[in-house]
Amino acid sequence: EKGGYPHFMLKEIFEQPEALRKTVAPRIKDGLPDLQVEAFTDELIRSVGKIHIVACGTASYAGMIGKCALEKLVRVPAEVCIASEFRYNDPILAPDDLVIVISQSGETADTLAALRLAKEKGIHTMAIVNVVGSSIAREADSIIYTWAGPEIAVASTKAYTVQMSVMYLIALKMALVRGTLTEEEVRRYCEIIQAMPEKQQDILAQSDTCQYFASRFQNAEHLFYIGRGLDYALSMEGSLKLKEISYIHSEAYAAGELKHGTISLITDHVPVVAVATQEHIYEKTISNIKEVTTRGAKVLLVVNDRFEVKDDIADYILRLPTTEDVLMPLLAVIPLQLFAYYTAVLRGCDVDKPRNLAKSVTVE
Ligand code: F6R
Repeated sequence: EKGGYPHFMLKEIFEQPEALRKTVAPRIKDGLPDLQVEAFTDELIRSVGKIHIVACGTASYAGMIGKCALEKLVRVPAEVCIASEFRYNDPILAPDDLVIVISQSGETADTLAALRLAKEKGIHTMAIVNVVGSSIAREADSIIYTWAGPEIAVASTKAYTVQMSVMYLIALKMALVRGTLTEEEVRRYCEIIQAMPEKQQDILAQSDTCQYFASRFQNAEHLFYIGRGLDYALSMEGSLKLKEISYIHSEAYAAGELKHGTISLITDHVPVVAVATQEHIYEKTISNIKEVTTRGAKVLLVVNDRFEVKDDIADYILRLPTTEDVLMPLLAVIPLQLFAYYTAVLRGCDVDKPRNLAKSVTVE
């Protein structure tokens, strides 16, 4: 049932190109996004004031990528709330707001409660869900399924990737309707997204390199992930993956924030994974890498191949195929998943069933 892979997690990491293809293909018609969601009308799209993205864990990190994409491409304010906070914080919701909940299982208790709260307040709710017919799917006003197929490993991988892809499609649809991008530009993005599975495949072909990097970092007790903007959002997911399955303590930090306190924790025993895929902030992240290498940290840099990085900027460098900056997370997530996976395997952890964790959290 693992299809020849030693763990479900690795199988699911390798299924990502296919999951992405299946999720995106039915939603691009004649080169333009077509979400196939009746209730999400052009009129509704035009009237949206603010978007609240509500989810837990990895799904909330997909939401962070979505927030960045929405704000960049649609110039609509968006915020991400963890469901367990949202539901008890008396959220400020206006009638023209949109609540997007994201859930692989469609059964997460806090996310379901958040959805119900938004509905009670008369806010339009949209759900991005992987399990057909699940509670969240049944109750949302609009539903967009991700077609990742069953995800068995407790640590979410392929579900995250397709959740991101749906957020991009929502952003592109909204950008088209609201005129923040030209039709030409939206077409180009759609083409690039459709070609993404092949690029993901190229990265998966480098899994040995990720295994080697993992072998260099496997004995760490603490580790930092740093990045800015989308790279910061992605760092949060990378850090969660590592800690939940390898039990190495790690933290994701906005790269520019380190010097406001946390850099005191950096020593030659605390390695750093730096993510740099965004051109406008690339030089800034490179300066932050210098700050940590000066303090003895070993650095693994995951970088956009388009940037000319000098080999001596980091101890280990993983170069990613390039694409539009805003879409880079669809590629950059893969080495972070593989790094976490191989680190956990090398440490002898039960990768598919990490201690204390359940796949579906139906109690709050
Ligand atoms: C992490 C992970 C969890 C889930 C979270 C939400 O790898 O799997 O953080 O993402 O429990 O679950 P769903 O998406 O089912 O609502």
